[in-house]
Amino acid sequence: MKITDCVHYVGVNDRNKHRFEGLWPLPYGVSYNSYIIEDEKTALVDTVDVCFFEQYMEKIQRAIGDRKIDYLIINHMEPDHSGAIKLIRKYYPDITLVGNKQTLSMVQGYYGEEGNRLEIKDGETLPLGKRTLSFHLIPMVHWPETMVTYEHTEKTLFSGDAFGCFGALNGAVVDSDMNTDIYWEEMTRYYSNIVGKYGTPIQRALCKLAGTEIKTICSTHGPVWKENIAKVVSIYDRLSKYEADEGVVIAYGTMYGNTEQMAEAIAEELAAQGIRNIVMHNLSKSHDSYVLKDIFKYKGLILGAPTYNASIYAEMSELMEELCMREIKGRYLGCFGSFTWAGQAVKKLTAFAEQVKYEMVGTPVEMKQAMKECTREQCKELAKAMAERLKQDRKS
Ligand code: FEO
Repeated sequence: MKITDCVHYVGVNDRNKHRFEGLWPLPYGVSYNSYIIEDEKTALVDTVDVCFFEQYMEKIQRAIGDRKIDYLIINHMEPDHSGAIKLIRKYYPDITLVGNKQTLSMVQGYYGEEGNRLEIKDGETLPLGKRTLSFHLIPMVHWPETMVTYEHTEKTLFSGDAFGCFGALNGAVVDSDMNTDIYWEEMTRYYSNIVGKYGTPIQRALCKLAGTEIKTICSTHGPVWKENIAKVVSIYDRLSKYEADEGVVIAYGTMYGNTEQMAEAIAEELAAQGIRNIVMHNLSKSHDSYVLKDIFKYKGLILGAPTYNASIYAEMSELMEELCMREIKGRYLGCFGSFTWAGQAVKKLTAFAEQVKYEMVGTPVEMKQAMKECTREQCKELAKAMAERLKQDRKS
Protein backbone atom coordinates (compact mmCIF):
# COMPACT_ATOMS: atom_id res chain seq x y z
CA MET A 1 0.00 0.00 0.00
CA LYS A 2 1.67 3.21 -1.20
CA ILE A 3 1.14 6.28 0.94
CA THR A 4 3.47 8.65 -0.94
CA ASP A 5 5.47 8.32 -4.18
CA CYS A 6 8.27 6.50 -2.39
CA VAL A 7 6.76 5.15 0.84
CA HIS A 8 4.90 1.86 1.25
CA TYR A 9 2.91 1.08 4.38
CA VAL A 10 3.72 -2.43 5.62
CA GLY A 11 2.29 -2.32 9.15
CA VAL A 12 -0.09 -4.82 10.76
CA ASN A 13 -3.23 -4.71 12.89
CA ASP A 14 -3.59 -6.36 16.26
CA ARG A 15 -7.23 -7.02 17.12
CA ASN A 16 -6.39 -9.96 19.40
CA LYS A 17 -4.50 -8.42 22.27
CA HIS A 18 -6.69 -7.49 25.21
CA ARG A 19 -4.24 -5.12 26.83
CA PHE A 20 -1.40 -3.08 25.35
CA GLU A 21 1.78 -3.48 27.44
CA GLY A 22 -0.32 -5.96 29.43
CA LEU A 23 -2.04 -2.95 31.02
CA TRP A 24 -4.19 -0.83 28.72
CA PRO A 25 -7.44 -2.14 27.18
CA LEU A 26 -7.71 -2.10 23.40
CA PRO A 27 -11.41 -1.95 22.47
CA TYR A 28 -10.56 -0.95 18.89
CA GLY A 29 -7.28 -2.87 18.67
CA VAL A 30 -3.96 -1.27 17.78
CA SER A 31 -1.75 -1.08 14.70
CA TYR A 32 2.00 -1.55 14.60
CA ASN A 33 3.11 0.63 11.72
CA SER A 34 6.17 0.02 9.61
CA TYR A 35 7.18 1.66 6.33
CA ILE A 36 9.47 1.02 3.37
CA ILE A 37 11.11 3.91 1.56
CA GLU A 38 12.08 2.97 -2.01
CA ASP A 39 14.85 4.76 -3.88
CA GLU A 40 18.17 3.59 -5.27
CA LYS A 41 18.52 2.09 -1.82
CA THR A 42 15.60 0.77 0.23
CA ALA A 43 15.00 1.53 3.88
CA LEU A 44 12.59 -0.16 6.26
CA VAL A 45 11.47 2.13 9.07
CA ASP A 46 10.81 0.25 12.32
CA THR A 47 9.31 -3.26 12.41
CA VAL A 48 6.27 -4.81 14.15
CA ASP A 49 5.36 -7.06 17.06
CA VAL A 50 7.06 -10.37 16.35
CA CYS A 51 3.74 -12.29 16.63
CA PHE A 52 2.75 -10.80 13.27
CA PHE A 53 5.95 -11.62 11.43
CA GLU A 54 4.45 -13.89 8.77
CA GLN A 55 1.92 -11.36 7.52
CA TYR A 56 4.51 -8.60 7.89
CA MET A 57 6.89 -10.42 5.53
CA GLU A 58 4.07 -10.99 3.05
CA LYS A 59 3.36 -7.26 3.05
CA ILE A 60 7.02 -6.40 2.55
CA GLN A 61 7.31 -8.82 -0.34
CA ARG A 62 4.10 -7.56 -1.93
CA ALA A 63 5.52 -4.03 -1.70
CA ILE A 64 9.03 -4.56 -3.04
CA GLY A 65 9.08 -8.10 -4.44
CA ASP A 66 12.55 -9.59 -4.42
CA ARG A 67 14.38 -6.32 -3.92
CA LYS A 68 16.75 -6.43 -1.00
CA ILE A 69 16.37 -4.04 1.91
CA ASP A 70 19.51 -2.00 2.49
CA TYR A 71 18.71 -0.31 5.78
CA LEU A 72 16.55 -0.86 8.81
CA ILE A 73 16.00 2.50 10.49
CA ILE A 74 15.24 1.95 14.17
CA ASN A 75 13.44 4.96 15.56
CA HIS A 76 12.30 3.21 18.73
CA MET A 77 13.34 0.01 20.45
CA GLU A 78 10.21 -0.93 22.40
CA PRO A 79 9.44 -4.51 21.34
CA ASP A 80 6.10 -3.61 19.69
CA HIS A 81 8.34 -2.07 17.00
CA SER A 82 11.67 -3.81 17.36
CA GLY A 83 10.28 -7.33 17.89
CA ALA A 84 10.88 -8.46 14.30
CA ILE A 85 14.50 -7.23 14.00
CA LYS A 86 16.05 -10.64 14.51
CA LEU A 87 13.81 -12.34 11.94
CA ILE A 88 14.21 -9.49 9.42
CA ARG A 89 17.94 -10.02 9.68
CA LYS A 90 17.44 -13.71 8.83
CA TYR A 91 15.51 -12.82 5.65
CA TYR A 92 17.83 -9.92 4.75
CA PRO A 93 21.24 -10.91 6.16
CA ASP A 94 23.03 -7.94 4.54
CA ILE A 95 20.68 -5.35 5.97
CA THR A 96 22.35 -2.54 7.92
CA LEU A 97 20.73 -1.57 11.20
CA VAL A 98 20.65 2.21 11.60
CA GLY A 99 20.32 3.74 15.03
CA ASN A 100 21.99 5.91 17.61
CA LYS A 101 24.41 4.62 20.24
CA GLN A 102 21.71 3.76 22.79
CA THR A 103 19.55 2.09 20.16
CA LEU A 104 22.33 -0.17 18.99
CA SER A 105 23.17 -1.11 22.55
CA MET A 106 19.52 -2.05 23.13
CA VAL A 107 19.50 -4.10 19.90
CA GLN A 108 22.40 -6.09 21.33
CA GLY A 109 20.68 -6.40 24.74
CA TYR A 110 17.31 -7.53 23.40
CA TYR A 111 18.27 -9.52 20.31
CA GLY A 112 22.01 -10.23 20.56
CA GLU A 113 22.43 -8.79 17.07
CA GLU A 114 25.99 -8.05 15.99
CA GLY A 115 25.73 -7.74 12.16
CA ASN A 116 25.98 -4.67 9.90
CA ARG A 117 25.19 -1.51 11.75
CA LEU A 118 25.47 2.20 11.20
CA GLU A 119 25.63 4.39 14.27
CA ILE A 120 24.24 7.84 13.65
CA LYS A 121 24.23 11.02 15.71
CA ASP A 122 21.63 13.72 16.10
CA GLY A 123 21.11 15.64 12.83
CA GLU A 124 23.11 13.26 10.63
CA THR A 125 21.84 12.32 7.18
CA LEU A 126 21.72 9.21 5.04
CA PRO A 127 21.31 9.46 1.24
CA LEU A 128 19.12 6.79 -0.37
CA GLY A 129 19.54 8.05 -3.98
CA LYS A 130 17.33 10.94 -4.98
CA ARG A 131 16.10 11.16 -1.44
CA THR A 132 17.87 11.84 1.82
CA LEU A 133 16.92 10.94 5.36
CA SER A 134 17.92 12.88 8.45
CA PHE A 135 17.77 11.65 12.03
CA HIS A 136 16.72 13.70 15.02
CA LEU A 137 16.97 12.43 18.57
CA ILE A 138 13.92 13.05 20.76
CA PRO A 139 14.85 11.25 23.99
CA MET A 140 12.02 10.07 26.28
CA VAL A 141 9.33 10.20 23.60
CA HIS A 142 8.93 7.50 24.72
CA TRP A 143 12.23 5.83 25.65
CA PRO A 144 15.69 7.39 26.01
CA GLU A 145 16.92 6.16 22.61
CA THR A 146 13.93 7.49 20.65
CA MET A 147 14.50 9.42 17.44
CA VAL A 148 12.50 10.53 14.42
CA THR A 149 13.49 10.23 10.77
CA TYR A 150 12.69 12.89 8.19
CA GLU A 151 12.58 12.34 4.42
CA HIS A 152 13.39 15.67 2.80
CA THR A 153 11.96 15.43 -0.73
CA GLU A 154 8.39 14.47 0.17
CA LYS A 155 8.65 16.04 3.63
CA THR A 156 7.59 12.92 5.48
CA LEU A 157 8.21 12.56 9.20
CA PHE A 158 8.57 9.05 10.61
CA SER A 159 7.74 9.99 14.15
CA GLY A 160 7.91 6.83 16.25
CA ASP A 161 5.30 6.79 19.02
CA ALA A 162 4.83 10.57 18.75
CA PHE A 163 1.43 11.47 17.22
CA GLY A 164 0.33 7.85 17.59
CA CYS A 165 -2.96 6.54 18.92
CA PHE A 166 -4.75 3.32 19.82
CA GLY A 167 -7.11 1.82 17.25
CA ALA A 168 -6.37 -0.68 14.50
CA LEU A 169 -6.64 0.51 10.88
CA ASN A 170 -9.84 -0.65 9.25
CA GLY A 171 -8.87 -0.91 5.60
CA ALA A 172 -7.55 2.57 4.90
CA VAL A 173 -4.23 3.79 6.31
CA VAL A 174 -4.18 7.52 5.51
CA ASP A 175 -6.50 9.84 7.46
CA SER A 176 -7.94 11.45 4.32
CA ASP A 177 -9.26 8.05 3.20
CA MET A 178 -11.18 7.17 6.38
CA ASN A 179 -13.61 8.27 9.04
CA THR A 180 -11.23 9.24 11.86
CA ASP A 181 -13.86 9.67 14.61
CA ILE A 182 -12.72 6.82 16.86
CA TYR A 183 -9.10 7.90 16.86
CA TRP A 184 -9.38 11.24 18.66
CA GLU A 185 -10.42 9.90 22.06
CA GLU A 186 -8.07 6.97 21.55
CA MET A 187 -5.25 9.43 20.87
CA THR A 188 -5.84 11.16 24.18
CA ARG A 189 -6.05 7.81 25.96
CA TYR A 190 -2.88 6.58 24.22
CA TYR A 191 -1.10 9.81 25.09
CA SER A 192 -2.16 9.84 28.74
CA ASN A 193 -1.45 6.17 29.34
CA ILE A 194 1.73 5.64 27.35
CA VAL A 195 3.62 8.92 27.08
CA GLY A 196 1.72 11.08 29.60
CA LYS A 197 4.67 11.16 31.99
CA TYR A 198 6.91 12.77 29.38
CA GLY A 199 5.30 16.17 28.81
CA THR A 200 8.58 18.09 29.03
CA PRO A 201 10.49 15.86 26.56
CA ILE A 202 7.51 16.07 24.18
CA GLN A 203 7.56 19.86 24.38
CA ARG A 204 11.30 19.75 23.64
CA ALA A 205 10.68 17.50 20.64
CA LEU A 206 7.92 19.77 19.32
CA CYS A 207 10.25 22.77 19.57
CA LYS A 208 12.97 20.85 17.76
CA LEU A 209 10.60 20.01 14.89
CA ALA A 210 8.92 23.43 14.82
CA GLY A 211 10.71 24.79 11.72
CA THR A 212 10.33 21.58 9.71
CA GLU A 213 7.78 21.50 6.90
CA ILE A 214 5.81 18.27 7.27
CA LYS A 215 3.39 16.95 4.67
CA THR A 216 2.93 13.45 6.06
CA ILE A 217 3.34 12.04 9.57
CA CYS A 218 4.02 8.32 9.73
CA SER A 219 3.80 7.31 13.36
CA THR A 220 4.11 3.80 14.76
CA HIS A 221 0.45 3.50 15.84
CA GLY A 222 -2.78 4.58 14.17
CA PRO A 223 -3.48 6.45 10.93
CA VAL A 224 -0.91 8.14 8.73
CA TRP A 225 -1.65 11.83 9.09
CA LYS A 226 -1.90 14.12 6.08
CA GLU A 227 -5.16 16.04 6.34
CA ASN A 228 -5.11 16.41 10.13
CA ILE A 229 -1.47 17.26 10.83
CA ALA A 230 -2.25 20.60 12.50
CA LYS A 231 -4.93 18.97 14.70
CA VAL A 232 -2.69 16.09 15.73
CA VAL A 233 0.25 18.35 16.58
CA SER A 234 -2.07 20.64 18.53
CA ILE A 235 -3.49 17.70 20.56
CA TYR A 236 0.01 16.56 21.50
CA ASP A 237 1.06 20.13 22.23
CA ARG A 238 -1.85 20.81 24.59
CA LEU A 239 -1.64 17.49 26.36
CA SER A 240 2.10 17.78 26.90
CA LYS A 241 1.59 21.24 28.43
CA TYR A 242 -1.09 19.67 30.69
CA GLU A 243 -3.62 22.17 29.33
CA ALA A 244 -7.21 21.12 29.93
CA ASP A 245 -10.78 22.10 29.16
CA GLU A 246 -13.36 23.30 31.66
CA GLY A 247 -14.90 20.24 33.24
CA VAL A 248 -14.75 17.92 36.23
CA VAL A 249 -13.84 14.29 36.62
CA ILE A 250 -15.42 12.71 39.69
CA ALA A 251 -13.54 9.49 40.36
CA TYR A 252 -14.73 7.47 43.31
CA GLY A 253 -14.62 4.12 45.00
CA THR A 254 -17.70 2.67 46.63
CA MET A 255 -18.51 -0.64 48.31
CA TYR A 256 -22.21 -0.42 49.14
CA GLY A 257 -23.22 2.79 47.37
CA ASN A 258 -22.95 5.22 50.29
CA THR A 259 -19.83 6.99 49.00
CA GLU A 260 -21.39 6.94 45.54
CA GLN A 261 -24.29 9.01 46.86
CA MET A 262 -21.80 11.71 47.79
CA ALA A 263 -20.46 11.60 44.22
CA GLU A 264 -24.01 11.93 42.85
CA ALA A 265 -24.76 14.92 45.07
CA ILE A 266 -21.56 16.65 43.94
CA ALA A 267 -22.28 15.97 40.26
CA GLU A 268 -25.86 17.30 40.53
CA GLU A 269 -24.68 20.53 42.07
CA LEU A 270 -21.90 20.97 39.51
CA ALA A 271 -24.50 20.64 36.77
CA ALA A 272 -26.80 23.08 38.59
CA GLN A 273 -23.89 25.52 38.69
CA GLY A 274 -23.55 25.39 34.91
CA ILE A 275 -20.64 23.00 34.49
CA ARG A 276 -21.31 21.00 31.34
CA ASN A 277 -18.40 18.57 31.15
CA ILE A 278 -18.85 16.23 34.10
CA VAL A 279 -17.45 12.71 33.88
CA MET A 280 -18.06 10.17 36.65
CA HIS A 281 -15.93 7.09 37.08
CA ASN A 282 -16.72 4.31 39.51
CA LEU A 283 -13.19 3.03 39.94
CA SER A 284 -14.33 -0.55 40.46
CA LYS A 285 -15.76 -0.45 36.95
CA SER A 286 -13.82 2.09 34.89
CA HIS A 287 -10.33 1.05 33.86
CA ASP A 288 -7.70 3.56 34.97
CA SER A 289 -6.75 4.22 31.35
CA TYR A 290 -10.13 5.92 30.79
CA VAL A 291 -9.96 7.80 34.08
CA LEU A 292 -6.48 9.11 33.27
CA LYS A 293 -7.62 10.11 29.80
CA ASP A 294 -10.42 12.23 31.25
CA ILE A 295 -8.15 13.73 33.91
CA PHE A 296 -5.86 14.85 31.08
CA LYS A 297 -8.89 16.40 29.38
CA TYR A 298 -10.46 18.33 32.25
CA LYS A 299 -9.16 20.87 34.73
CA GLY A 300 -11.27 19.87 37.75
CA LEU A 301 -10.81 16.63 39.67
CA ILE A 302 -12.83 15.40 42.63
CA LEU A 303 -11.70 12.18 44.28
CA GLY A 304 -13.73 10.19 46.79
CA ALA A 305 -13.37 6.84 48.51
CA PRO A 306 -14.28 4.83 51.58
CA THR A 307 -11.85 3.99 54.32
CA TYR A 308 -10.68 0.40 54.00
CA ASN A 309 -8.42 -1.59 56.36
CA ALA A 310 -7.46 1.62 58.20
CA SER A 311 -6.35 3.09 54.90
CA ILE A 312 -8.03 4.06 51.62
CA TYR A 313 -9.96 1.90 49.18
CA ALA A 314 -7.43 0.05 47.01
CA GLU A 315 -8.75 1.24 43.65
CA MET A 316 -8.28 4.86 44.74
CA SER A 317 -4.82 4.13 46.07
CA GLU A 318 -3.89 2.77 42.65
CA LEU A 319 -5.28 5.81 40.85
CA MET A 320 -3.37 8.17 43.14
CA GLU A 321 -0.18 6.26 42.34
CA GLU A 322 -0.89 6.50 38.59
CA LEU A 323 -1.43 10.25 38.90
CA CYS A 324 1.81 10.75 40.84
CA MET A 325 3.69 8.69 38.28
CA ARG A 326 2.46 10.84 35.38
CA GLU A 327 3.18 14.13 37.16
CA ILE A 328 0.00 15.66 35.72
CA LYS A 329 0.16 19.32 36.59
CA GLY A 330 -2.24 22.16 37.25
CA ARG A 331 -5.47 20.49 38.31
CA TYR A 332 -8.01 21.76 40.83
CA LEU A 333 -8.70 19.09 43.39
CA GLY A 334 -11.61 18.45 45.71
CA CYS A 335 -12.03 15.37 47.85
CA PHE A 336 -14.54 13.42 49.88
CA GLY A 337 -14.60 10.12 51.73
CA SER A 338 -16.43 7.91 54.15
CA PHE A 339 -15.85 5.62 57.09
CA THR A 340 -17.77 3.48 59.52
CA TRP A 341 -15.82 3.72 62.76
CA ALA A 342 -12.42 5.38 62.07
CA GLY A 343 -11.84 7.69 59.12
CA GLN A 344 -8.67 7.43 57.02
CA ALA A 345 -9.75 8.04 53.40
CA VAL A 346 -10.00 11.83 53.57
CA LYS A 347 -6.67 12.04 55.40
CA LYS A 348 -5.02 10.05 52.61
CA LEU A 349 -6.65 12.18 49.91
CA THR A 350 -5.58 15.41 51.62
CA ALA A 351 -2.00 14.14 51.94
CA PHE A 352 -2.12 13.21 48.25
CA ALA A 353 -3.22 16.75 47.33
CA GLU A 354 -0.19 18.15 49.16
CA GLN A 355 2.11 15.66 47.48
CA VAL A 356 1.00 16.49 43.93
CA LYS A 357 0.68 20.22 44.68
CA TYR A 358 -2.76 20.53 43.11
CA GLU A 359 -4.80 23.55 44.07
CA MET A 360 -7.23 22.36 46.75
CA VAL A 361 -10.76 23.57 46.17
CA GLY A 362 -13.49 23.66 48.82
CA THR A 363 -13.52 21.77 52.09
CA PRO A 364 -12.99 17.99 52.05
CA VAL A 365 -16.19 16.19 53.00
CA GLU A 366 -16.01 13.26 55.38
CA MET A 367 -19.10 11.11 55.96
CA LYS A 368 -19.70 8.68 58.82
CA GLN A 369 -21.63 5.62 57.62
CA ALA A 370 -24.46 6.97 55.43
CA MET A 371 -25.73 10.12 53.76
CA LYS A 372 -27.44 12.71 55.95
CA GLU A 373 -28.78 16.11 55.05
CA CYS A 374 -25.74 17.86 56.51
CA THR A 375 -23.42 15.70 54.37
CA ARG A 376 -25.47 16.51 51.27
CA GLU A 377 -25.06 20.22 52.02
CA GLN A 378 -21.29 19.79 52.44
CA CYS A 379 -21.11 17.97 49.09
CA LYS A 380 -23.03 20.81 47.46
CA GLU A 381 -20.63 23.34 48.96
CA LEU A 382 -17.68 21.40 47.58
CA ALA A 383 -19.28 21.33 44.13
CA LYS A 384 -20.04 25.06 44.28
CA ALA A 385 -16.42 25.83 45.20
CA MET A 386 -15.19 23.77 42.23
CA ALA A 387 -17.64 25.41 39.85
CA GLU A 388 -16.62 28.86 41.04
CA ARG A 389 -12.94 28.08 40.62
CA LEU A 390 -13.50 26.86 37.07
CA LYS A 391 -15.62 29.88 36.20
CA GLN A 392 -12.84 32.22 37.35
CA ASP A 393 -10.77 30.85 34.47
CA ARG A 394 -13.45 31.84 31.95
CA LYS A 395 -12.49 35.45 32.62
CA SER A 396 -8.76 34.96 32.00
FE1 FEO B 1 4.74 1.74 20.53
FE2 FEO B 1 6.91 2.98 22.92
O1 FEO B 1 6.24 1.75 21.70
